[in-house]
Amino acid sequence: MRIDVITLFPDSFAGIVGASMLGIAQERGVLEFHTHDLRDWALLGVHRQVDDSPYGGGAGMVLRPEPVFAAIDAVHALDARQALVILVTPQGERFTQSRAERLAELDRLIIVCGRYEGFDERIRSAADLEVSIGDYVLTGGELPAMVITDAVTRLLPGVLGDDQSACEDSFTTGLLEYPHYTRPAEYRGMDVPEVLRSGDHARIERWRQAQAAERTAVRRPDLLAAAWDDMTAEMRAAARAALGTDTEDE
Ligand code: 6GU
Repeated sequence: MRIDVITLFPDSFAGIVGASMLGIAQERGVLEFHTHDLRDWALLGVHRQVDDSPYGGGAGMVLRPEPVFAAIDAVHALDARQALVILVTPQGERFTQSRAERLAELDRLIIVCGRYEGFDERIRSAADLEVSIGDYVLTGGELPAMVITDAVTRLLPGVLGDDQSACEDSFTTGLLEYPHYTRPAEYRGMDVPEVLRSGDHARIERWRQAQAAERTAVRRPDLLAAAWDDMTAEMRAAARAALGTDTEDE
């Protein structure tokens, strides 16, 4: 997959995108990542202007449409593959694992980072999709662009070590993940659950499923309804016990 990011802060991506899994994905040729400085398409003049004061008055500056449209056109032209243009904004649809999975199927993304107090409304018409990463306000779209890049890249074939590791993630199954333990078997009075040391793989699997159900019931009960149909009787019982709604159903 190729990802191009249009931003006023292209240097801010190097540390995150060069390191760890994203770095490996690039070394393996699975991810091709480029940043583009929006100022390269600034209006002519000494100030290389990309923003302006809002019509109708008010505080702050607004990103002008011309540099953004010009940047998107130029970046599109860098590669023949069809690209989906994503505008990151707190007003976008909430980014989810399911959206990450759909984006990971595509050949090419162009991510446009907003900045300052806002952007000219006409810029929206250049985007295929508007995405927010959550209900809080950030100073710009750079972190959201990195979040999207990370969440999508780890789903690309050949990025994670074994193909299973993405399937068992929280949110892929619709439930939070079960707890993990490694050595030592006892630490500061906290023991690794006996079942994990039993060697009984069927029992371990059932325990993990029940833990995932219980944990989701306690921490994210909002996720349970959508996952319910895929849960075993044992998982449902664990969830009900955690919720304190210990009644039978169907
Ligand atoms: Cl995509 N942008 C900004 N500026 N703030 C956000 C966001 C995006 N998603 C959540 N908060």
